[in-house]
Amino acid sequence: VRLVLLFGGRSTEHAISCVSAGGVLRALDRSRYDVIPVGIDPEGRWVVLPEDSPVLTAVSADLPTVNAADGIEVTLTPDPTRPRLLVSDPSSPLRDLGTVDVVFPLLHGPFGEDGTIQGLLEMSGLPYVGSGVFASATSMDKQHMKRILAASGLPVGPYTVVRPGQTLSETERERLGLPVFVKPARGGSSIGISRVDAWADLDTAFKAARSSDPKVLVEAAIVGREIECGVLDRLDGSGPEASVPAEITVTSSAGFYDFEAKYVSDGARLDVPAQLPDELTERVRATATAAYEALDCAGLARVDMFVTPAGDIVLNEVNTMPGFTSTSMFPQVWAASGLDFAALTDRLVQLALR
Ligand code: DAL
Ligand code: MG
Repeated sequence: VRLVLLFGGRSTEHAISCVSAGGVLRALDRSRYDVIPVGIDPEGRWVVLPEDSPVLTAVSADLPTVNAADGIEVTLTPDPTRPRLLVSDPSSPLRDLGTVDVVFPLLHGPFGEDGTIQGLLEMSGLPYVGSGVFASATSMDKQHMKRILAASGLPVGPYTVVRPGQTLSETERERLGLPVFVKPARGGSSIGISRVDAWADLDTAFKAARSSDPKVLVEAAIVGREIECGVLDRLDGSGPEASVPAEITVTSSAGFYDFEAKYVSDGARLDVPAQLPDELTERVRATATAAYEALDCAGLARVDMFVTPAGDIVLNEVNTMPGFTSTSMFPQVWAASGLDFAALTDRLVQLALR
């Protein structure tokens, strides 16, 4: 099976995608998969990179960037009858790198996790890992994700959308209460997110969020335990199943699971599985698969939620291409559920080829 592993990309999560891709590359069974690593540089150029490229061997603390000059530029040609990659080596005319059986778009954020690349792959007639255009686009946008979850009868917290040039009205301030979380609508890895404990700090938080996305969400803080659950489709087509839930306890001074705590400084403790009563564990798992189905996800997703002291679940978000770094939750919850990293990557590709 010729598999193109796509990583990097134009979003602010470029480096996280490279680290995720390195992990997947090392986990894939090479007796079954012929892997072509294709990095997308921050400007959007696609280049075939050697497997031992530093961008694929970097660890989380040492965040890499794809440099187009380090590889050979390629284009994916949308031709449903013969999906292939063309090599554009400036010293030679266009060359064909051959057909491709499946693509693993291990890209996070806009232009990767938001339906755009999925649309290109659909047009190319290429099977790919993960959700399709609709689920990717909807889950990327926290406003529309929440709308669909709420319309499906699933619990989401209080929030409001703030568009360019707008701010939060007095009424909304009273309704949401302090603290609030200010987030880019279409972001990831906590980039551009601020916890606001005083309204005087709101404008700074808007600026930070708007540097990722002109559309911003303000969410009420939910008091509760932070729980995440992996969801995977079953190979026999009988629908999704949930992993064991895990709990995040933030230990850093930021007061939330920010970029530093996620990837850099060990600022969060992950309990895998979470210590929860059986009844709650089952409710968490059922809510995770319900959210996955409400959004029409496919392949995989990680569903993030809070469990309040009263035992109520509040959904935070659904990630259609969760991180696969060494500190990321998704591979860990599946390992604890009996699916090691190699088996997990194999299942994802087999689901795409089904
Ligand atoms: N957006 C990051 C990669 C995650 O959800 O894990
Ligand atoms: Mg996210």
